[in-house]
Amino acid sequence: MRKMSILLVVGCLVFSAALVMAAVNKGPEAVKLPASMGEVSFDHAAHQGRVAACQTCHHQAAAEATPVACRSCHGVTADIPTAKDAFHQRCKSCHKAQNGPTKCKECHRGPKG
Ligand code: HEC
Ligand code: HEC
Ligand code: HEC
Ligand code: HEC
Repeated sequence: MRKMSILLVVGCLVFSAALVMAAVNKGPEAVKLPASMGEVSFDHAAHQGRVAACQTCHHQAAAEATPVACRSCHGVTADIPTAKDAFHQRCKSCHKAQNGPTKCKECHRGPKG
C-alpha cells in the first residue's frame, strides 16, 4: 500500500513536470529582425538546438515561463541598452567563441528597413 502511494506521488510529479515543460512556448521557428543595415533572418529553432539554456539569450525569463521579445524591453527606455547593442553583444560574443558569423553582411542579408 505504502509502495503504491509512493508510486502514485512520483507519477503525479513526473506528470506535472511534463505539463510545465509543455506550457513553455518555444516561439517561432524563424524570426525576421528588421534593421537599417539589412534585415537579419534568425533561425530560432536551429539556435535552440545549439544552445542548452533558453536563458543564454532570454536572460530575463524564468526557467518555466514563456520568454517575451527582446524588443519589449530593449529600445523602450533610455536606461536599458538599445536593441542594437543588446543583439550585437549577445549574438556576436557567442559567434566569436563558436565560429558563427561575425561580419556585418553575414547577418544583415535582407532588405534595408
Ligand atoms: C540564440 C538566442 C536564443 C535562444 C537560445 C532562444 N531564443 Fe527565443 N528568441 C530569440 C530571439 C532573438 C527572438 C526574437 C525576439 C524579438 O523579436 O525581439 C526570440 C523569440 C522567442 C519567442 C517569441 C517572443 C515574442 O513574444 O515575440 C519565444 C516564445 C521564445 N523565443 C522562446 C524560446 C525558448 C522557450 C527557448 C529555449 C528552448 C528559446 N527561445 C531560445 C533568441 C533566442
Ligand atoms: C524584461 C525586460 C528584458 C527583456 C525581455 C530582455 N532584456 Fe536584455 N536587458 C534588460 C535590462 C534591464 C538590461 C540591463 C541590466 C542587465 O544587464 O540586466 C539588459 C541587458 C542586456 C544585455 C547586456 C547589454 C550591455 O550593454 O551590458 C544584453 C546582451 C541583453 N540584455 C540581451 C537581450 C536579448 C538578446 C534579449 C532577448 C532574447 C533580451 N535581452 C531580453 C532587460 C530585458
Ligand atoms: C550561444 C551561441 C550563439 C548565440 C547566442 C547566437 N548564435 Fe547564431 N550561431 C551560433 C553558431 C554556433 C552558428 C554556426 C552554426 C554552424 O555554422 O554550424 C550560428 C549561426 C548563425 C547564423 C548563420 C545561419 C545559421 O543559423 O546557421 C546566423 C544568421 C546567426 N547565427 C544569427 C544569430 C543572431 C541574430 C543571434 C542573436 C539574436 C545569434 N545568432 C546568437 C551560435 C550562437
Ligand atoms: C551576428 C549577427 C550580426 C552581425 C555580425 C552584425 N549585426 Fe547588426 N544587428 C544584428 C541584429 C540581430 C540587430 C537588431 C535588429 C533589430 O533590432 O530588429 C542588428 C542591428 C543593427 C543596427 C541597428 C539597425 C536599426 O535599424 O536600428 C545597425 C546600424 C547594425 N546592426 C549595423 C551592423 C554593422 C555595421 C555590422 C558589422 C560591423 C553588424 N551590424 C554586424 C545582427 C548582427
